[in-house]
Amino acid sequence: MLRTSLRPALQLTRIYTPQNPLAYSHCLKQNEKAGKISVSLRWVTQATGGTMIFRQLFDRESCTYTYLLADPETKDAVLVDPVIDLAERDAKLISEMGLNLKYVMNTHMHADHITGSGLLKKLVPGCKSLIAKNSGADADIHVEHGETVKFGDQVLEVRSTPGHTNGCVTYVCHGEKFALTGDALLIRGCGRTDFQEGSPDTLYNSVHSQILSLPEDFALYPAHDYKGLTVTSVSEEKQFNPRLTKSKEEFIDLMNNLGLPYPKKIDMSLPANKVCGLYNLPDNLAAKLQD
Ligand SMILES: [Fe+2]
Repeated sequence: MLRTSLRPALQLTRIYTPQNPLAYSHCLKQNEKAGKISVSLRWVTQATGGTMIFRQLFDRESCTYTYLLADPETKDAVLVDPVIDLAERDAKLISEMGLNLKYVMNTHMHADHITGSGLLKKLVPGCKSLIAKNSGADADIHVEHGETVKFGDQVLEVRSTPGHTNGCVTYVCHGEKFALTGDALLIRGCGRTDFQEGSPDTLYNSVHSQILSLPEDFALYPAHDYKGLTVTSVSEEKQFNPRLTKSKEEFIDLMNNLGLPYPKKIDMSLPANKVCGLYNLPDNLAAKLQD
């Protein structure tokens, strides 16, 4: 249905739709042609299946991206891959935006930072922690391949993408045409495979069968970036990923010979993340959990 009032324009500026280059360029062209904001809104809603509140947050120390996703109608929200040092920032933002945080989720059991899940459960009462069953980590909710995570009218499909770790998952939002890939696929790269039961063979299969098999215009958001990039797409990675465009044999050889240093925080992070960030915390962080 076409709308002619200014209301849709206000909604578009208030609610950010995730990167969806095709939908946006289509939308702008149509808007230009018709000179009507209403046509623009129509394209956004019909091409992407709706709108979603989407915030990409960053931790400078570990170069981790945390994603806050929410349903604009119900305000139900999820927070993916929070970092404990920034849990208060995240809780404040959630409060200021008037969101109901349902789940604090992880794409996998991280080795480079302690998850904010445990602390956020304290800071935002009522939210539940969620992680893949195969991760081996404690959480209120364990998910498996093929299950969905729902918040308001928004749905994320859980896809098992092991290889960086056994329990890595990718959360796919078909409605908004994007996926949160964790460390399975990074922008022009991928997560290392030399610890936490990593396997280059498994990772290669996971990325090709579960992520690069998505439609080419799907946006891909990783759990980290070290070069200042924020988002990529299936099409871009199929063309330009220097590792995953190789044959499987070449990829395995490359990954087995990266010669990377032992991760700085792994000895502290893994035991803590096994219990969702509530284990043997550094003193300054543990104090926050006392009250
Ligand atoms: Fe990781």
